[in-house]
Amino acid sequence: MGFPDGFLWGASTSSYQIEGGNEGSAFTAWERRRGWEPCAEAADSWNRWREDLACLKELGANAYRFSLEWSRLQPSPVDFDEKALSRYVEMARTFKEAGVRPMVCLHHFSEPAWLFERYPLGWLDPRACEAFVRFGDRVVRALRSEVSDWITFNEPMVWLMNGYALGLFPPGLRRIYALERTFLKEGLLENVLRAHRELYRLIHQDIPNGRVAIAQNIVDLEPARPGSADLEALSRWDLFMHRRALDLAASAHTLDFIGLNYYTRIFVSKARLPFVPLRVVPAYAELEQITGSLGLKLLGGRRGDRPRSDMGWEIVPEGLGKVALALWKAYRLPVVVTENGMADGSPDGRERFLKGHLASLEAAIAQGADVRGYLHWSLVDNYEWGSYRPRFGLYGVDRSGSFKRSQASGADYFRRVIAANGVV
Ligand code: BGC
Repeated sequence: MGFPDGFLWGASTSSYQIEGGNEGSAFTAWERRRGWEPCAEAADSWNRWREDLACLKELGANAYRFSLEWSRLQPSPVDFDEKALSRYVEMARTFKEAGVRPMVCLHHFSEPAWLFERYPLGWLDPRACEAFVRFGDRVVRALRSEVSDWITFNEPMVWLMNGYALGLFPPGLRRIYALERTFLKEGLLENVLRAHRELYRLIHQDIPNGRVAIAQNIVDLEPARPGSADLEALSRWDLFMHRRALDLAASAHTLDFIGLNYYTRIFVSKARLPFVPLRVVPAYAELEQITGSLGLKLLGGRRGDRPRSDMGWEIVPEGLGKVALALWKAYRLPVVVTENGMADGSPDGRERFLKGHLASLEAAIAQGADVRGYLHWSLVDNYEWGSYRPRFGLYGVDRSGSFKRSQASGADYFRRVIAANGVV
């Protein structure tokens, strides 16, 4: 066995989580309001991106996924920072020349504060979509000679659930009890998909060999109990959280590959209480943190008993291969794992994690899944949307002032896998 020739090996990051100094983001104001740990300098990658490149080279990586910070590039609706844009162009060019193929994401959760000052309902207002397409058009044109691989949106469903249903991200709307109305009838998802379709068209117009994807967070779903009620609930959740956005993009022929962000599995049950959205209890660790384990049980939820990462997520390596194979069968489009990783403070957890997950991916490929790459989350320790406590980096970052990168657990193992182009 082994991975196909030309397989993309590397890591993923996002601008807000590692660059630092992005005070124009709505997320910064949000952190202050919620009393969360500030993002502040993050890993200072805006100034130290060459150090990040050195880490990628040390790993032997041939690909790197990063995102562009909208709030940095467009500090106000009418200003565009050409100097910042040139730095991104220089970054992409330098990565490429160093043999590290850049994959650029246009939207990774963080948005400019002015967007919500103008449009308090955010993406429920179609003008937010238009503003984003104008931004995307400009940056795609600037980067077209350097970048062929594009992600329009990172985890649209996770982002929209947090911002428009659970009130956890800007603009902070809590519409969980009107989930389908907000997402479907009021056009929230359609506004995002419209931006995706427009950007797909613009990218292909500008870049002849361009490839465009959405990076979708997909968890391995299991029914809480055998029997049709939980299976039906599972399909409803799968359709809502995983498939609808991809179906809409695929049916418009606006996907060249699918970005898969896989972290964990959850058990799904049919809700006993009628007011529960979609009549589904999806037993995420985050839900259990809110309800408590007793509360989750009373709701009819079930959590698995595998070891968990520092995020409380169950570690289920075979889920990666299972989900990748299912995606390939459903869409017949190449899959790139655009995120997979674990928050881990222990000395050897990440090596075990990598070994298990990559073995299951290798097996999925052997069964016919067209998987073209694996980008680990994350290259360096990042701001985890409210806290620096979870450590996802293959490289740790000294945040006491030097910002020095040093290999964390799993980095050397990953280097050996990349060198062998197979699980070692
Ligand atoms: C997101 C990242 C995040 C990671 C770990 C993904 O859902 O795209 O921004 O840091 O998971 O939680």
